[in-house]
Amino acid sequence: MTAAPRSAWRVAPGGVISGTLTIPGDKSISHRALMLGALAEGDTHISGFLAGEDCLATARALEALGVRLERPAATDVLVHGVGRAGLEAAASALDMGNAGTAMRLMMGVLAPQRFDSTLIGDESLMRRPMERVAAPLQMMGARIHTHAGRPPVEIQGTPQLRAIHYSLPVASAQVKSAVLLAGLAAAGRTRVTEPHPSRDHTERMLRAFGVELTQSGRTIALEGGQRLRGTAVAVPADFSSAAFFIVAACLAAERSLLLSNVGVNPTRTGLISLLRRMGADIRVHPRTVAEDPGVEPVADVEVHRSALRGITVPEALVPLSIDELPVFFVAAACASGETLVRGALELRVKESDRLATMAAGLAALGVEHQLLPDGLWIRGSGTLGGGRVDSCGDHRVAMAFAVAALRARTAIEITDVANVATSFPQFERTARAAGIVIEAL
Ligand code: S3P
Repeated sequence: MTAAPRSAWRVAPGGVISGTLTIPGDKSISHRALMLGALAEGDTHISGFLAGEDCLATARALEALGVRLERPAATDVLVHGVGRAGLEAAASALDMGNAGTAMRLMMGVLAPQRFDSTLIGDESLMRRPMERVAAPLQMMGARIHTHAGRPPVEIQGTPQLRAIHYSLPVASAQVKSAVLLAGLAAAGRTRVTEPHPSRDHTERMLRAFGVELTQSGRTIALEGGQRLRGTAVAVPADFSSAAFFIVAACLAAERSLLLSNVGVNPTRTGLISLLRRMGADIRVHPRTVAEDPGVEPVADVEVHRSALRGITVPEALVPLSIDELPVFFVAAACASGETLVRGALELRVKESDRLATMAAGLAALGVEHQLLPDGLWIRGSGTLGGGRVDSCGDHRVAMAFAVAALRARTAIEITDVANVATSFPQFERTARAAGIVIEAL
């Protein structure tokens, strides 16, 4: 088990946001590119790869399973695919660090192998629910053992899986992806039905690797036994990392902020819809033209300073903005009027209990709010207080409160921020370039 070092930031109050920013690669897409590249026949060249701790944990796990990776440049990875049956047993437990996506998707990859595997992670990951993935895989015949639903996850490889039709109880791209990845090795046609759309990167990328996949309404289906062909994957900038600067620019842009080459997959950009409902001026300039089912849409995103008003968030937008809700709560705290988010129970099982962690941070800054079982109610006020906020080792909470300082009366000190390196290792530098006055303590 790995323990993250603790560290802190001091973010000065105020600041003006401007310029053009390049945001690092998408975490979800980088994980998938490594995994599908490993399962493919032939080489896969990944450009724009996110070299953050989470994706590096996936890379190390694949290397431990006998996959050869090369890093010709910091954001380029060459994956020498071994084919679906080419992975080899790892010598010891695979440590997925802080990465929930890595652990859950790898359960789908490892369940149908000829060998056994064990998955572990850091303190936070060892507390997170894995039964939601183990259960459908067990229905497929997989032999997976969790500890009261949590890691370590012990997998006895079972090459003879059978296809199932699984209706997801909650919208979860990770569960959907794990079932589809296991379905590649199952006999028959695997179907997954979602209650609401969740991010569809796995489906798009499987198509790019030559897998036939059908979608009818909310049901995705694929035939087992298909082979993956190595390909080139260009990873766009991570919308979830761009989100911090989208909100920062709404709150404090001098004129406007431009974020270039950002992934704008519609299953990820719920935050833009929410902020526009609050009165934000966000302009999306597409870089990709036709809608291709195997391609990720990319755009330049231009954000202007706007006076935001509180809203009631439609529940259907929650899965489409799930990772952006921490910084959305900051936008709500800086808006005029009340904001209500319900139907966000999933936030309680992220890298921290994000409803509780955000509520505690808002309380420290004097924001009137109410913590609900599945959401938050916030009364916005143009300015926030300062003070000390504990991010509880949650990268997105830490970055959200760095943005809050733009509207604070005094400095905000944010503790336990080392895990920002899991998704956005260059955050401090990028934040300073944008106009946030941040220093490491
Ligand atoms: C992810 C899916 C989401 C998201 C996570 C990344 C993915 O989780 O919160 O950060 O890459 O598939 P759930 O599938 O649990 O909703």
